Amino acid sequence: MSYPASRPRRLRRSPLLRRALAETTLAASDFVLPLFVSETATAPVPISSLPGHHQHSIQSALDECQQAIDLGIPMVLLFGIPAAKDERGTAAWADDGAVQRLTTAIKERFGDRLLVATDLCMCEYTSHGHCGILSGREVDNDATLDAYRQIAASQAGAGADIVAPSGMMDGQVGAIREVLDGGGFGEVAIMAYSAKMASAFYGPFRDAVGSVPAFGDRRAYQMDGANLDEALREVRLDIVEGADIVMVKPAGPYLDIVARVAAEVDVPVAAYQVSGEMAMIKAAAERGWLDHDAAVMESLVSIRRAGAKLLISYFAKEAVRIMQGLREA
Ligand code: PBG
Repeated sequence: MSYPASRPRRLRRSPLLRRALAETTLAASDFVLPLFVSETATAPVPISSLPGHHQHSIQSALDECQQAIDLGIPMVLLFGIPAAKDERGTAAWADDGAVQRLTTAIKERFGDRLLVATDLCMCEYTSHGHCGILSGREVDNDATLDAYRQIAASQAGAGADIVAPSGMMDGQVGAIREVLDGGGFGEVAIMAYSAKMASAFYGPFRDAVGSVPAFGDRRAYQMDGANLDEALREVRLDIVEGADIVMVKPAGPYLDIVARVAAEVDVPVAAYQVSGEMAMIKAAAERGWLDHDAAVMESLVSIRRAGAKLLISYFAKEAVRIMQGLREA
């Protein structure tokens, strides 16, 4: 039937009708809150390019975790900023590193009330800013896997529920699964950054943790954003190697990839709305060019609609507060 008998606008007439018929909804339980913890900070240091986010001390990070719990957010994703960086990124697997200590502190304080996922990579820890061990000017894949094994053992030993390898080395998921299983950490899950693009949208994050590569770029390990088939192949490889959750990153510019991955695999899909995606909305809203809250929610609903179950987002807390406001209205 067509117009005038068919009138789609009938179902858009009131807020309640629109809410009742929304095909995609967001819940606090969909969100993962990224947190930065610094080995040297004694008080939270604001990150200017990520408004609302800080380089945290253990104490202030625990306060953030309490807020996440109060908002109903089930998971945090931890990034560390070490006191000193070196060529081999050894601070990444220091058992008394900031991520390890915070992980243990969260589990002691909050137990099962909050899931801890740890970013498993080296770019925050290496003096050159690359995601692995160098051989000349290249990142040596298999030498890097050895380092990732040590990081995985250290993070799992600290009590991580989930480790999240983000370095895009070949075989990283398999190597980590093996060391976890061999070390008595069979229950620790892997959330794999499976299709992680070499993206211009990581700029604010790299400022936040000081991980701008000292030379070159990450294109020899992160993916070319032009490639959908390759993204699917990366995802399938990670699942075969034992990934429990697969991730597409960034989210907004790659919604087609999120959608294809969600349609083709039967493990949960996560999508990472990265620092630059937040920065665009924040900066435009600051100038009065966008309605902040509306743009935040539209960006997140779109990622969910594309098929992501978990939304890793710097807006996590704000989004839940916006949703609560909407519900009260
Ligand atoms: C690195 C890592 C990066 C991000 C998460 N893990 C940066 C990179 O690849 O340079 C970026 C996150 C963001 O931009 O929000 N292991």
